[in-house]
Amino acid sequence: YDAVCVFVNDVVNAAVIERLAQCGVKLIALRCAGFNNVDLQAAAQAGIKVVRVPAYSPYAVAEHGVALLMALTRHIPQAYLRTKTANFNIEGLTGRDLHGLTAGVLGTGKIGQIMAGILKGFGMDIIAYDPYPNEAWADGSGARYVSLDDIFRQSDVLSLHCPLTEQTKHIVNHDTMKMMKPGAVIINTGRGALIDSKALVHALKHQHIGGIGMDVYEEESKYFFSDWSTDIMTDDVLARLLTFPNVIITSHQAFLTTNALKNLADTTLDNIKAFMGGAELANEVKAN
Ligand code: NAI
Repeated sequence: YDAVCVFVNDVVNAAVIERLAQCGVKLIALRCAGFNNVDLQAAAQAGIKVVRVPAYSPYAVAEHGVALLMALTRHIPQAYLRTKTANFNIEGLTGRDLHGLTAGVLGTGKIGQIMAGILKGFGMDIIAYDPYPNEAWADGSGARYVSLDDIFRQSDVLSLHCPLTEQTKHIVNHDTMKMMKPGAVIINTGRGALIDSKALVHALKHQHIGGIGMDVYEEESKYFFSDWSTDIMTDDVLARLLTFPNVIITSHQAFLTTNALKNLADTTLDNIKAFMGGAELANEVKAN
Protein backbone atom coordinates (compact mmCIF):
# COMPACT_ATOMS: atom_id res chain seq x y z
CA TYR A 1 0.00 0.00 0.00
CA ASP A 2 1.05 3.61 -0.49
CA ALA A 3 -0.31 4.64 2.91
CA VAL A 4 -0.94 3.02 6.29
CA CYS A 5 -3.46 4.28 8.80
CA VAL A 6 -2.53 3.92 12.48
CA PHE A 7 -4.10 4.65 15.86
CA VAL A 8 -2.92 5.76 19.32
CA ASN A 9 -1.50 2.50 20.62
CA ASP A 10 0.10 1.22 17.42
CA VAL A 11 3.88 1.04 17.68
CA VAL A 12 5.49 3.02 14.88
CA ASN A 13 9.12 2.94 15.96
CA ALA A 14 12.27 2.97 13.83
CA ALA A 15 12.11 -0.79 13.15
CA VAL A 16 8.48 -0.61 11.99
CA ILE A 17 9.25 2.42 9.84
CA GLU A 18 12.20 0.67 8.23
CA ARG A 19 9.93 -2.26 7.30
CA LEU A 20 7.21 0.09 6.00
CA ALA A 21 9.78 1.86 3.84
CA GLN A 22 10.97 -1.50 2.45
CA CYS A 23 7.33 -2.24 1.52
CA GLY A 24 7.08 1.05 -0.36
CA VAL A 25 4.79 2.84 2.11
CA LYS A 26 5.05 6.59 1.61
CA LEU A 27 2.54 7.96 4.12
CA ILE A 28 1.63 7.24 7.75
CA ALA A 29 -1.85 8.62 8.38
CA LEU A 30 -2.60 8.84 12.08
CA ARG A 31 -6.30 8.79 12.83
CA CYS A 32 -5.67 10.59 16.13
CA ALA A 33 -4.19 13.85 17.41
CA GLY A 34 -1.27 12.60 19.56
CA PHE A 35 1.82 11.34 17.70
CA ASN A 36 4.10 10.30 20.58
CA ASN A 37 3.95 6.70 19.27
CA VAL A 38 5.66 7.60 15.98
CA ASP A 39 9.44 7.98 15.56
CA LEU A 40 9.28 11.15 13.46
CA GLN A 41 13.04 11.25 12.97
CA ALA A 42 13.06 7.74 11.53
CA ALA A 43 10.09 8.60 9.30
CA ALA A 44 11.87 11.70 7.96
CA GLN A 45 15.02 9.66 7.27
CA ALA A 46 12.96 7.02 5.45
CA GLY A 47 11.24 9.71 3.37
CA ILE A 48 7.83 8.79 4.80
CA LYS A 49 5.42 11.63 5.54
CA VAL A 50 3.31 11.62 8.70
CA VAL A 51 -0.11 13.26 8.93
CA ARG A 52 -2.57 13.41 11.80
CA VAL A 53 -6.00 14.72 12.77
CA PRO A 54 -5.15 17.69 15.00
CA ALA A 55 -8.70 18.23 16.27
CA TYR A 56 -11.69 15.97 15.75
CA SER A 57 -13.73 16.87 18.76
CA PRO A 58 -12.03 18.51 21.69
CA TYR A 59 -15.52 18.59 23.25
CA ALA A 60 -15.68 14.78 23.26
CA VAL A 61 -12.48 14.54 25.31
CA ALA A 62 -13.23 17.39 27.70
CA GLU A 63 -16.78 16.14 28.31
CA HIS A 64 -15.45 12.66 29.10
CA GLY A 65 -13.04 14.23 31.58
CA VAL A 66 -16.00 15.92 33.25
CA ALA A 67 -17.91 12.62 33.27
CA LEU A 68 -14.98 10.97 35.08
CA LEU A 69 -14.81 13.86 37.54
CA MET A 70 -18.51 13.76 38.39
CA ALA A 71 -18.56 9.96 38.60
CA LEU A 72 -15.62 10.11 40.98
CA THR A 73 -16.76 12.93 43.25
CA ARG A 74 -20.37 11.68 43.48
CA HIS A 75 -19.61 7.93 43.63
CA ILE A 76 -21.81 7.15 40.64
CA PRO A 77 -20.27 3.71 39.86
CA GLN A 78 -20.92 2.53 43.44
CA ALA A 79 -24.45 4.00 43.47
CA TYR A 80 -25.24 2.38 40.11
CA LEU A 81 -24.13 -1.06 41.30
CA ARG A 82 -26.14 -0.70 44.52
CA THR A 83 -29.42 0.37 42.95
CA LYS A 84 -29.10 -2.35 40.27
CA THR A 85 -29.38 -4.88 43.10
CA ALA A 86 -32.17 -2.95 44.82
CA ASN A 87 -29.78 -1.70 47.50
CA PHE A 88 -30.91 1.88 48.12
CA ASN A 89 -28.55 2.55 51.01
CA ILE A 90 -26.59 5.81 50.64
CA GLU A 91 -23.99 5.05 53.32
CA GLY A 92 -20.48 6.03 52.17
CA LEU A 93 -21.70 7.94 49.12
CA THR A 94 -21.13 11.44 50.51
CA GLY A 95 -19.70 13.63 47.77
CA ARG A 96 -18.29 17.09 47.50
CA ASP A 97 -19.60 20.24 45.76
CA LEU A 98 -17.37 21.27 42.89
CA HIS A 99 -18.73 24.82 43.15
CA GLY A 100 -16.13 27.01 44.82
CA LEU A 101 -13.25 24.53 44.44
CA THR A 102 -10.11 25.29 42.43
CA ALA A 103 -9.58 23.45 39.14
CA GLY A 104 -6.06 23.32 37.70
CA VAL A 105 -5.83 22.85 33.95
CA LEU A 106 -2.42 21.60 32.86
CA GLY A 107 -2.10 22.45 29.18
CA THR A 108 -4.42 25.08 27.76
CA GLY A 109 -4.70 23.98 24.14
CA LYS A 110 -7.95 23.03 22.47
CA ILE A 111 -9.12 20.44 25.03
CA GLY A 112 -7.80 22.24 28.12
CA GLN A 113 -9.65 25.42 27.19
CA ILE A 114 -12.94 23.58 26.77
CA MET A 115 -12.42 21.71 30.04
CA ALA A 116 -11.75 25.03 31.78
CA GLY A 117 -14.93 26.51 30.31
CA ILE A 118 -17.09 23.63 31.52
CA LEU A 119 -15.56 23.67 35.01
CA LYS A 120 -15.99 27.44 35.16
CA GLY A 121 -19.67 26.77 34.52
CA PHE A 122 -19.74 24.69 37.71
CA GLY A 123 -18.56 27.79 39.58
CA MET A 124 -14.99 26.56 40.01
CA ASP A 125 -12.01 28.88 40.23
CA ILE A 126 -9.79 28.10 37.21
CA ILE A 127 -6.01 28.16 37.37
CA ALA A 128 -3.81 26.97 34.53
CA TYR A 129 -0.26 26.17 33.53
CA ASP A 130 1.17 26.09 30.02
CA PRO A 131 4.73 26.89 28.89
CA TYR A 132 3.07 28.86 26.07
CA PRO A 133 0.35 30.74 27.97
CA ASN A 134 -2.57 32.09 25.97
CA GLU A 135 -3.20 35.32 27.87
CA ALA A 136 -6.00 36.46 25.56
CA TRP A 137 -7.90 33.25 26.32
CA ALA A 138 -7.20 33.59 30.06
CA ASP A 139 -8.44 37.20 30.10
CA GLY A 140 -11.61 36.27 28.25
CA SER A 141 -12.39 33.15 30.23
CA GLY A 142 -11.57 34.22 33.76
CA ALA A 143 -8.74 31.67 34.10
CA ARG A 144 -5.47 32.60 35.77
CA TYR A 145 -2.03 31.27 34.80
CA VAL A 146 0.15 30.14 37.70
CA SER A 147 3.52 28.41 37.96
CA LEU A 148 3.82 24.64 37.55
CA ASP A 149 4.44 24.23 41.29
CA ASP A 150 1.44 26.37 42.16
CA ILE A 151 -0.92 24.38 39.98
CA PHE A 152 0.04 21.30 42.00
CA ARG A 153 -0.20 23.20 45.30
CA GLN A 154 -3.50 24.98 44.71
CA SER A 155 -5.69 22.60 42.71
CA ASP A 156 -8.55 20.65 44.26
CA VAL A 157 -9.06 19.08 40.84
CA LEU A 158 -6.09 18.73 38.51
CA SER A 159 -6.89 17.93 34.90
CA LEU A 160 -4.14 16.94 32.46
CA HIS A 161 -4.33 18.22 28.87
CA CYS A 162 -0.73 18.52 27.73
CA PRO A 163 0.92 16.27 25.15
CA LEU A 164 3.31 13.51 26.20
CA THR A 165 6.86 14.75 25.62
CA GLU A 166 10.22 14.28 27.32
CA GLN A 167 9.34 17.32 29.48
CA THR A 168 5.90 16.07 30.47
CA LYS A 169 6.68 12.37 31.06
CA HIS A 170 5.86 11.66 34.74
CA ILE A 171 5.00 15.32 35.32
CA VAL A 172 2.72 13.89 38.01
CA ASN A 173 5.21 12.04 40.20
CA HIS A 174 6.01 11.34 43.82
CA ASP A 175 7.31 14.89 44.44
CA THR A 176 4.57 16.78 42.61
CA MET A 177 1.80 14.68 44.20
CA LYS A 178 3.33 15.45 47.60
CA MET A 179 2.78 19.14 46.85
CA MET A 180 -0.94 18.54 46.23
CA LYS A 181 -3.63 19.26 48.78
CA PRO A 182 -4.68 16.15 50.68
CA GLY A 183 -7.82 14.83 49.02
CA ALA A 184 -7.22 16.56 45.69
CA VAL A 185 -8.36 14.56 42.67
CA ILE A 186 -6.67 14.07 39.31
CA ILE A 187 -8.31 13.63 35.93
CA ASN A 188 -6.15 12.27 33.13
CA THR A 189 -7.51 12.19 29.61
CA GLY A 190 -4.10 13.17 28.18
CA ARG A 191 -1.59 10.32 28.03
CA GLY A 192 -0.89 7.61 30.61
CA ALA A 193 2.80 8.34 30.99
CA LEU A 194 2.09 11.88 32.19
CA ILE A 195 1.68 10.09 35.54
CA ASP A 196 4.21 7.88 37.31
CA SER A 197 1.78 5.04 38.00
CA LYS A 198 3.80 3.44 40.80
CA ALA A 199 3.98 6.79 42.60
CA LEU A 200 0.22 7.13 42.05
CA VAL A 201 -0.44 3.79 43.73
CA HIS A 202 1.71 4.94 46.66
CA ALA A 203 -0.19 8.25 46.96
CA LEU A 204 -3.55 6.45 46.81
CA LYS A 205 -2.47 3.84 49.37
CA HIS A 206 -1.42 6.57 51.76
CA GLN A 207 -4.68 8.44 51.09
CA HIS A 208 -2.89 11.57 50.03
CA ILE A 209 -4.66 11.75 46.70
CA GLY A 210 -8.46 11.86 46.92
CA GLY A 211 -8.92 9.83 43.77
CA ILE A 212 -8.30 9.72 40.06
CA GLY A 213 -10.34 9.39 36.93
CA MET A 214 -8.13 8.07 34.18
CA ASP A 215 -8.91 7.38 30.54
CA VAL A 216 -5.29 6.57 29.79
CA TYR A 217 -2.67 4.44 31.52
CA GLU A 218 1.10 4.29 31.14
CA GLU A 219 1.16 0.65 29.99
CA GLU A 220 -2.25 0.66 28.35
CA SER A 221 -1.20 -0.68 24.94
CA LYS A 222 -1.22 -4.32 26.09
CA TYR A 223 -4.66 -4.15 27.69
CA PHE A 224 -6.80 -1.32 26.37
CA PHE A 225 -9.22 -2.10 23.54
CA SER A 226 -9.11 -5.86 24.41
CA ASP A 227 -11.22 -8.14 26.61
CA TRP A 228 -9.06 -9.49 29.43
CA SER A 229 -11.95 -10.60 31.64
CA THR A 230 -11.10 -14.29 31.32
CA ASP A 231 -7.33 -13.91 31.24
CA ILE A 232 -4.65 -13.41 33.90
CA MET A 233 -3.38 -9.84 34.03
CA THR A 234 0.33 -9.63 34.76
CA ASP A 235 0.46 -5.85 35.26
CA ASP A 236 0.42 -5.53 39.06
CA VAL A 237 0.19 -1.74 38.98
CA LEU A 238 -2.94 -1.76 36.81
CA ALA A 239 -4.39 -4.60 38.89
CA ARG A 240 -3.77 -2.60 42.10
CA LEU A 241 -5.25 0.57 40.62
CA LEU A 242 -8.43 -1.35 39.78
CA THR A 243 -8.88 -2.27 43.45
CA PHE A 244 -9.19 1.30 44.76
CA PRO A 245 -12.76 2.54 45.22
CA ASN A 246 -11.62 6.06 44.33
CA VAL A 247 -10.08 5.12 40.98
CA ILE A 248 -12.15 5.09 37.80
CA ILE A 249 -10.49 3.76 34.69
CA THR A 250 -11.92 3.94 31.20
CA SER A 251 -9.97 2.44 28.32
CA HIS A 252 -8.98 5.42 26.16
CA GLN A 253 -12.51 6.19 25.05
CA ALA A 254 -12.64 9.94 25.65
CA PHE A 255 -12.57 10.52 21.89
CA LEU A 256 -15.34 8.00 21.25
CA THR A 257 -18.37 9.97 20.13
CA THR A 258 -20.18 9.74 16.80
CA ASN A 259 -19.20 13.35 16.03
CA ALA A 260 -15.52 12.69 16.68
CA LEU A 261 -15.47 9.45 14.68
CA LYS A 262 -16.96 11.20 11.64
CA ASN A 263 -14.44 14.04 11.89
CA LEU A 264 -11.59 11.52 12.30
CA ALA A 265 -12.61 9.61 9.18
CA ASP A 266 -13.23 12.74 7.09
CA THR A 267 -9.93 14.42 7.98
CA THR A 268 -7.92 11.19 7.59
CA LEU A 269 -9.34 10.67 4.10
CA ASP A 270 -8.72 14.34 3.22
CA ASN A 271 -5.12 13.99 4.45
CA ILE A 272 -4.59 10.91 2.26
CA LYS A 273 -6.27 12.53 -0.76
CA ALA A 274 -4.08 15.63 -0.37
CA PHE A 275 -0.97 13.44 -0.27
CA MET A 276 -1.99 11.37 -3.29
CA GLY A 277 -2.91 14.53 -5.22
CA GLY A 278 0.40 16.19 -4.39
CA ALA A 279 -1.34 19.02 -2.51
CA GLU A 280 0.10 20.79 0.51
CA LEU A 281 -0.23 18.69 3.69
CA ALA A 282 -1.98 20.94 6.18
CA ASN A 283 -1.84 18.31 8.92
CA GLU A 284 1.71 17.05 8.48
CA VAL A 285 3.77 16.36 11.64
CA LYS A 286 7.49 16.85 11.31
CA ALA A 287 10.47 15.98 13.50
CA ASN A 288 11.88 18.99 15.37
P1 NAI B 1 -3.20 21.05 21.87
O1 NAI B 1 -1.95 20.87 21.07
O2 NAI B 1 -4.29 21.92 21.35
O3 NAI B 1 -2.82 21.58 23.35
C1 NAI B 1 -1.77 21.08 24.11
C2 NAI B 1 -1.31 22.20 25.04
O4 NAI B 1 -0.35 21.65 25.93
C3 NAI B 1 -0.65 23.38 24.30
O5 NAI B 1 -1.23 24.59 24.71
C4 NAI B 1 0.80 23.27 24.73
O6 NAI B 1 1.45 24.54 24.83
C5 NAI B 1 0.65 22.63 26.10
N1 NAI B 1 1.89 22.07 26.63
C6 NAI B 1 3.00 21.65 25.94
N2 NAI B 1 3.96 21.28 26.81
C7 NAI B 1 3.45 21.46 28.06
C8 NAI B 1 3.97 21.29 29.37
N3 NAI B 1 5.24 20.89 29.56
N4 NAI B 1 3.17 21.58 30.42
C9 NAI B 1 1.91 22.02 30.25
N5 NAI B 1 1.37 22.24 29.01
C10 NAI B 1 2.13 21.95 27.94
O7 NAI B 1 -3.72 19.57 22.14
P2 NAI B 1 -5.20 19.10 22.54
O8 NAI B 1 -5.97 18.85 21.29
O9 NAI B 1 -5.77 20.00 23.55
O10 NAI B 1 -4.90 17.66 23.18
C11 NAI B 1 -4.15 17.53 24.38
C12 NAI B 1 -3.75 16.08 24.57
O11 NAI B 1 -4.89 15.28 24.81
C13 NAI B 1 -3.11 15.42 23.31
O12 NAI B 1 -1.72 15.68 23.24
C14 NAI B 1 -3.38 13.96 23.50
O13 NAI B 1 -2.29 13.38 24.17
C15 NAI B 1 -4.61 13.95 24.43
N6 NAI B 1 -5.80 13.38 23.76
C16 NAI B 1 -6.45 12.32 24.36
C17 NAI B 1 -7.57 11.76 23.78
C18 NAI B 1 -8.32 10.65 24.42
O14 NAI B 1 -9.17 10.00 23.77
N7 NAI B 1 -8.10 10.35 25.70
C19 NAI B 1 -8.06 12.24 22.48
C20 NAI B 1 -7.35 13.40 21.97
C21 NAI B 1 -6.24 13.93 22.59
